[in-house]
Amino acid sequence: MSVPNNRPLQITVEAPSALKDRTGILVIGAYADGTLPALSQQVDEASKGHLTTVLKRGDLEKKAGASLLLHDLAGVQSERVMVISLGMPDEFGDKAFRDALSSAAKSLHAGVASDALVALADVDLPGRSDAWRLQEAARLIADGAYQFNGSGSKSQNGNRGARNIKLLVSGKSTDATTKAVRQGQAMAEGMALAKDLGNLPGNICTPAFLAETAKSLGKEFDFSVEVLESGEMKNLGMRAALAVGQGSAQPSKFIAMHYNHGGKAQPFVLVGKGVTFDSGGISLKPGEKMDEMKFDMCGAASVLGAVKTVARLGLPINLIALIPAVENMPGSNAIRPGDVITSMSGQTIEVLNTDAEGRLTLADALTYAERFNPAYVIDIATLTGACVIALGNITTGLFANDDELADQLLESGIDTGDRAWRLPLFDEYQDMLKSNFADMSNLGGRPAGAITAACFLQRFVNNYKWAHLDIAGTNAVSGDNKGATGRPVPLLTEFLIARAENRASQTTNARAA
Ligand code: BES
Ligand code: MN
Ligand code: ZN
Repeated sequence: MSVPNNRPLQITVEAPSALKDRTGILVIGAYADGTLPALSQQVDEASKGHLTTVLKRGDLEKKAGASLLLHDLAGVQSERVMVISLGMPDEFGDKAFRDALSSAAKSLHAGVASDALVALADVDLPGRSDAWRLQEAARLIADGAYQFNGSGSKSQNGNRGARNIKLLVSGKSTDATTKAVRQGQAMAEGMALAKDLGNLPGNICTPAFLAETAKSLGKEFDFSVEVLESGEMKNLGMRAALAVGQGSAQPSKFIAMHYNHGGKAQPFVLVGKGVTFDSGGISLKPGEKMDEMKFDMCGAASVLGAVKTVARLGLPINLIALIPAVENMPGSNAIRPGDVITSMSGQTIEVLNTDAEGRLTLADALTYAERFNPAYVIDIATLTGACVIALGNITTGLFANDDELADQLLESGIDTGDRAWRLPLFDEYQDMLKSNFADMSNLGGRPAGAITAACFLQRFVNNYKWAHLDIAGTNAVSGDNKGATGRPVPLLTEFLIARAENRASQTTNARAA
């Protein structure tokens, strides 16, 4: 069984002369003070000022992303003109730009027009290049088309939605602009895979399913995938990872993907937490919202998504992706509070709480990563509720033993709006992991829970530059829009693209945005 595909979407770059084409829908921007960006001015002129007259009536709300649909605007060929508010010009930045594009995407995918012209990527944005605006526009529009059709429920959208989308820019369409669109679309494709895997229920998205998904990616893009069965994991000494899965009927797997397109360069290693369902084990979680613990493999899903984006783009890097895939269940063979296990590193761990299981699986993966002589190792994990308390659902927690790596990840987060914030790994926190019966306990207590979890991981990091992303707050949303977000695929892939192109962040003043 594989993850179902979404409807294909074609996104291209066109010159402003296309404004005159007849399409189902033309999307333009307008500032909240009534001023218009250049392409919208052209539309206004074509309509002999009718557009300004209509906007003066005030139907378009001021907030960036608000929209107004006009039919048969005089002098304009397109059947519909969708005007999107860009907010006030002096407040126009990355966020308003993204709000406008996301809103446009929503309307495009919900509407009936199949051909669309989008004139939003041409606006002036301080510190941002044509390429950046096109990459983000393509990513947001493609991401907006995402629909989960995975667990047998009926498709909600039928045949609606734009398929053919032209992004208008006044500059020439160059290799850089087409590449930017390709990159944005590939990022959205990686996000879609991450969302699909996250959204699938725990009875379908098992460790074996993650392994099959990795294998089929390897087949599709011609890279090698190893799946270690529990026997092989045992031979390697991965007893910490195995301990988590031993209470489940689902066999544990260790997945290793090897994408080698970087010659002799040191590889990047991504490690994803792949707990396909986290019941808490014997330290059972409360029942409320326990269903959301099917999202506990979203670190793994983001790693698979990032690999897909990288492979789609054929980035000239070496990338290794590691996923310890397990299910945390309270079976009769499950680990108990108080059990002492020996990790692959040789360090012993007293399991004081079987619900602090992610760190146990990652510990062995971090030890395994050492053999690749990595340039960087980045692990991604829905690791702690404490991180959600600290940063909410907006920002990913970032920890690193290397300042340059931390800064690059922060910049990639800013460039994609998939932001992270750095928290400390001060040695003083290590004392909170003290055990009377083993080298450490897996529990640091309630204060600074995200930090002590990261400090636990750091004990398994040897001889390489490492970062840890705690995505417990950002991987999924609950409530009416319950579902996986595809984060942090944008951050990870932007980071890898920037490294592949050997460049810094995409802007000179990213921090100001
Ligand atoms: N998967 C959870 C963390 C989590 C919580 C993710 C909420 C998403 C939303 C993790 O395995 C866990 O249970 N962590 C415990 C650790 C504690 C027992 C030290 C937590 O955060 O409560
Ligand atoms: Mn847990
Ligand atoms: Zn967990």
